[in-house]
Amino acid sequence: MKFAQTLCSALWASTTLAANSLHKRGVFNKARPAVERRVANQPFKHPEIQKRATRFMSDKTKEFSVNGTGIPEVEFDIGESYAGLLPISDDPAETRKLFFWFFPSTAAETPKEIVIWLNGGPGCSSLSGFLTENGPFTWMSGTMAPVPNPYSWTNLTNMIWVEQPVGVGYSQGTPNITDEVQLATEFRGFYKSFVDVFDVHGWDIYVTGESYAGFYVPYIADGFLQANDTDYFKLAGISINDPIIGDETNQQQVCILPYVEYWQNLMYLNDTFMTQMRERQDQCNYTDYWDTYFQFPPPSGPQPVLPDPFNSDTYACDMFDNFYAAILEVNPCFNIYHITETCPHPFSQLGIVNTGDYQPPGAQVYFNRTDVQVALHAVVGTNWQQCTDTNVFGNGNATSSARDASVGPANNGVLQRVIEATNNTIIGSGDLDMLLSTNGTLLAIQNMTWNGAQGLHAYPSTPLYAPHHPEYNLGALAGAGIQGHWGAERGLTFYTAQLAGHELPGYTPGVAYRMLEILLGRVEDFSSTESFTTQKGEFTGNGTIYRRRA
Ligand SMILES: *[C@@H]1O[C@H](CO)[C@@H](O)[C@H](O)[C@H]1NC(C)=O
Ligand SMILES: *[C@@H]1O[C@H](CO)[C@@H](O)[C@H](O)[C@H]1NC(C)=O
Ligand SMILES: *[C@@H]1O[C@H](CO)[C@@H](O)[C@H](O)[C@H]1NC(C)=O
Ligand SMILES: *[C@@H]1O[C@H](CO)[C@@H](O)[C@H](O)[C@H]1NC(C)=O
Ligand SMILES: *[C@@H]1O[C@H](CO)[C@@H](O)[C@H](O)[C@H]1NC(C)=O
Ligand SMILES: *[C@@H]1O[C@H](CO)[C@@H](O)[C@H](O)[C@H]1NC(C)=O
Ligand SMILES: *[C@@H]1O[C@H](CO)[C@@H](O)[C@H](O)[C@H]1NC(C)=O
Ligand SMILES: *[C@@H]1O[C@H](CO)[C@@H](O)[C@H](O)[C@H]1NC(C)=O
Ligand SMILES: *[C@@H]1O[C@H](CO)[C@@H](O)[C@H](O)[C@H]1NC(C)=O
Ligand SMILES: *[C@@H]1O[C@H](CO)[C@@H](O)[C@H](O)[C@H]1NC(C)=O
Ligand SMILES: *[C@@H]1O[C@H](CO)[C@@H](O)[C@H](O)[C@H]1NC(C)=O
Ligand SMILES: *[C@@H]1O[C@H](CO)[C@@H](O)[C@H](O)[C@H]1NC(C)=O
Repeated sequence: MKFAQTLCSALWASTTLAANSLHKRGVFNKARPAVERRVANQPFKHPEIQKRATRFMSDKTKEFSVNGTGIPEVEFDIGESYAGLLPISDDPAETRKLFFWFFPSTAAETPKEIVIWLNGGPGCSSLSGFLTENGPFTWMSGTMAPVPNPYSWTNLTNMIWVEQPVGVGYSQGTPNITDEVQLATEFRGFYKSFVDVFDVHGWDIYVTGESYAGFYVPYIADGFLQANDTDYFKLAGISINDPIIGDETNQQQVCILPYVEYWQNLMYLNDTFMTQMRERQDQCNYTDYWDTYFQFPPPSGPQPVLPDPFNSDTYACDMFDNFYAAILEVNPCFNIYHITETCPHPFSQLGIVNTGDYQPPGAQVYFNRTDVQVALHAVVGTNWQQCTDTNVFGNGNATSSARDASVGPANNGVLQRVIEATNNTIIGSGDLDMLLSTNGTLLAIQNMTWNGAQGLHAYPSTPLYAPHHPEYNLGALAGAGIQGHWGAERGLTFYTAQLAGHELPGYTPGVAYRMLEILLGRVEDFSSTESFTTQKGEFTGNGTIYRRRA
């Protein structure tokens, strides 16, 4: 979820300038357009989660089996699933363990494949994605109770949510890694344990995630490739959304003024401040940089590294935090992960991590409850935090989610190798995410060379279509029709969801579901207008794969 961002703002004095707004209300009110009322007369009934023979139950797995009707606050059967801790190496003395929650696909037939989901941070739990983005049930901020998720990724395939690295969530052990290569090694050890217990040798693996998992996913995928062992680590593709993959200054600072200009009607910053920020953009050399390198195709050769704005006394070039502070003044409930939010803050089940999370006094954090920990075979009493305040990369010493020692995977060949090995990499972006904005991510991509050329040759601009879904579940809705844009070049697909925030599968579940169908090879691309594959009664679940886009 969270990609750490320190707020160290230097606010500049400014003069007043009253916004001279013109409210000619009523002018367009004469003929009210008829709005189709889709709210059915009968209340929505939750579909029964398909009950099937328990495919994965065995002597080795039964200790992980979760009682599908025994999940606190969840008033329906969540079906077959397995949760618990598995060691990160096969050394019998190994005490470091990662926590997982594994759900078999609910489709009648599913190819031999597994999708791994990872949230970011660093230090954030993938159970936050489980509960608010793509899991079989969701409990979104501000809602009363969990509901079945009609866009659960478990409808399509076998899913595993993993809390990693050591130090995160229910996982056990003292963190002592310092970089992403060590993180990938740790994860590989865990995944090998998983393959042996659940007997999924040789299955295709798709690694997916969000935010700081823009580091995790490519490094883990590359770690799978480097292991050269398809019995355990057969990589078939990756997907990341709203990721950090390159240089932070490029992805957050240089691009933020154009972002704010685009959304200024929502930000509503005053003219004096905007004028100062435009001047600052020039002085920091961001204007020239943006004009030079944000091009399709990009100029050939590497983008130069700009000075780190945090290595300065004034933070004058920390455009991001200066904007963030000014926006919070206008809209104190502003959420950098989802910029259309205004007050009040909705209540979050996951605890307070981000601006925008809110817990009334006395409220509990769902995964910190004893009954939840018992139900999921976690170590009871674990102080579960959505994002740990232990530094998972600091050898266990420091607090706060400090950064690791690795270079962005777009800048050192890691992501390139993953794209080239599979030709099945999908990068997405919610346009309402300010933390890691669409054009900032594209700027990072323009610095990368893969399959023989640098960057994308055209700005992704083909309309993206998400199918309509016949169910109208007021507890979990998804937009349909044209939802964004996409483009694909040389094994890399890039897409946007205009009305999604940072947690894209939570905000636009239909787009994310379609993305997964494409990643798994069941639908050709984002222009397809065919219905969701799970709506067609006769899905040939034996792995009939569409041509991969090269
Ligand atoms: C304009 O915005 C800046 C930055 O938030 C603030 O310091 C200043 O007081 C604002 N001016 C007015 C007139 O609101
Ligand atoms: C599962 O949980 C429900 C609700 O607590 C309980 O009634 C049932 O006996 C449990 N089933 C098993 C197999 O433990
Ligand atoms: C972390 O600690 C384990 C022992 O618990 C040790 O085997 C391993 O080498 C250490 N890793 C690093 C990166 O220091
Ligand atoms: C990978 O494994 C295959 C088969 O075991 C072997 O032929 C190949 O040389 C290995 N490649 C590397 C880079 O280790
Ligand atoms: C992103 O870049 C494209 C292409 O230059 C531009 O049309 C769009 O307005 C930009 N979006 C934002 C939010 O700045
Ligand atoms: C901007 O570029 C000029 C010329 O290259 C350089 O002298 C100046 O130090 C740069 N400014 C910043 C803030 O990096
Ligand atoms: C661009 O990529 C090169 C490697 O090709 C890397 O050295 C450089 O740091 C990257 N620049 C930025 C701004 O990320
Ligand atoms: C989580 O539970 C532990 C006790 O197990 C408690 O110390 C801690 O304050 C709880 N955290 C939150 C955020 O409620
Ligand atoms: C953490 O503490 C240990 C023991 O004091 C020390 O050896 C190690 O260098 C420290 N690591 C960091 C990153 O400070
Ligand atoms: C990936 O696509 C490129 C064309 O962009 C092609 O040259 C290459 O052989 C493909 N690689 C794989 C593994 O399919
Ligand atoms: C997912 O499965 C549920 C239960 O079978 C079903 O009601 C729902 O329509 C499916 N969702 C999609 C997008 O196909
Ligand atoms: C997959 O299913 C389709 C439709 O049922 C069938 O025609 C095809 O032969 C099957 N392929 C394999 C490899 O079993």
